[in-house]
Amino acid sequence: MQQVRGVVARGKGEPVSIETVNVPDPEPGEAVVAVQACGVCHTDLHYREGGINDDFPFLLGHEAAGVVESVGEGVDSVAPGDVVVLNWRAVCGTCRACTRGEPWYCFATHNAAQRMTLEDGTELTPALGIGSFADKTLVHAGQCTKVDPAARAAAVGLLGCGVMAGLGAAMNTGNVRRGQSVAVIGCGGVGAAAVAGAALAGATTVIAVDLDPQKLEWATKLGATHTVDSGKQDPVAAIQELTGGFGADVVIDAVGRPETWKQAFYARDLAGTLVLVGVPTPEMKVPELPLIDVFGRGGALKSSWYGDCLPSRDFPMLVDLYRQGRLDLDAFVTEEIGLDDVEAAFEKMRHGGVLRSVVIL
Ligand SMILES: NC(=O)c1ccc[n+]([C@@H]2O[C@H](COP(=O)([O-])OP(=O)(O)OC[C@H]3O[C@@H](n4cnc5c(N)ncnc54)[C@H](O)[C@@H]3O)[C@@H](O)[C@H]2O)c1
Ligand SMILES: [Zn+2]
Ligand SMILES: [Zn+2]
Repeated sequence: MQQVRGVVARGKGEPVSIETVNVPDPEPGEAVVAVQACGVCHTDLHYREGGINDDFPFLLGHEAAGVVESVGEGVDSVAPGDVVVLNWRAVCGTCRACTRGEPWYCFATHNAAQRMTLEDGTELTPALGIGSFADKTLVHAGQCTKVDPAARAAAVGLLGCGVMAGLGAAMNTGNVRRGQSVAVIGCGGVGAAAVAGAALAGATTVIAVDLDPQKLEWATKLGATHTVDSGKQDPVAAIQELTGGFGADVVIDAVGRPETWKQAFYARDLAGTLVLVGVPTPEMKVPELPLIDVFGRGGALKSSWYGDCLPSRDFPMLVDLYRQGRLDLDAFVTEEIGLDDVEAAFEKMRHGGVLRSVVIL
């Protein structure tokens, strides 16, 4: 066991604090990773606001790159010294999704069996089974995906959650194809990545929608061909106008609120695809929607957990694209901050101005 610093959310809505965290030595199947960089994702804020569940105290952080420090007995997929991006989809290989050949839906993903604790022994719940706003964290070895050690940790760590979720919402869940039109509602880290994913997949019309002009400017750098300030314009009408009056082939909701989901629903062309990648809170309800519109407009209404990614397949491929200059992961890193600055980063997330704050350890 060793003691490290970690960012802990103790109770609903309470500001986070830095606590001493006990990290157990890895047992079979586990690994301890020295974290190098960890992005601040909106899901961390959801956790600290009690929007995910009530299993306080949480050890926050889940979008990280680091170096494997030690592994438990029998672990041969990674070794001490390997540079890895942590993932929250360590697939089991035996559940009904895995055995039918769709492991990105795995229903029984692995996490470390042991728990990290506070100094007094209180068990911590690591965010998304990771908990990487900490000098070191204990994970399942399958949560470590080896990547090119030459890549910048602050940039590639973002593949561990938000950027992968956005890229995958377009490339995997939305199955965007060459020549299609795509609209993305909400262009924070996740939505901006969906814009980049749509562009990578060959979409020729990529419409970024946000309330924050700065986000729209960044989205343009990442591949948006058009922008819509939905504080000033009705996004449904604007998306239709930009797509010949029809609506986009794929509309991605990267906010996850009833009103944005409804906008996405109606901003699709007939037979178009809606992808929900933003995470709603438990009290939110599907807005009133005539069932005949669901039937009559056709197409697909999909959810995208983690961009339907398979980390072992997607992380190394995306790091290659980054290293080749074809995916600008650096553009997502707005600021590098310290472990003490996570609460301030949540504040910035609320008031705009940041695509990703990345904690450097
Ligand atoms: N599905 C997944 O696997 C997955 C993974 C990571 C994050 N998420 C979720 O994705 C969402 C976005 O995360 P993020 O880190 O990019 O958050 P963020 O706070 O960085 O970005 C949210 C963006 O939405 C914009 N916005 C808010 N309300 C809007 C509205 N009504 N219309 C248009 N734009 C609006 C904000 O201005 C901001 O730019 C969160 O709900 C997060 O929990 C999902
Ligand atoms: Zn499985
Ligand atoms: Zn996340």
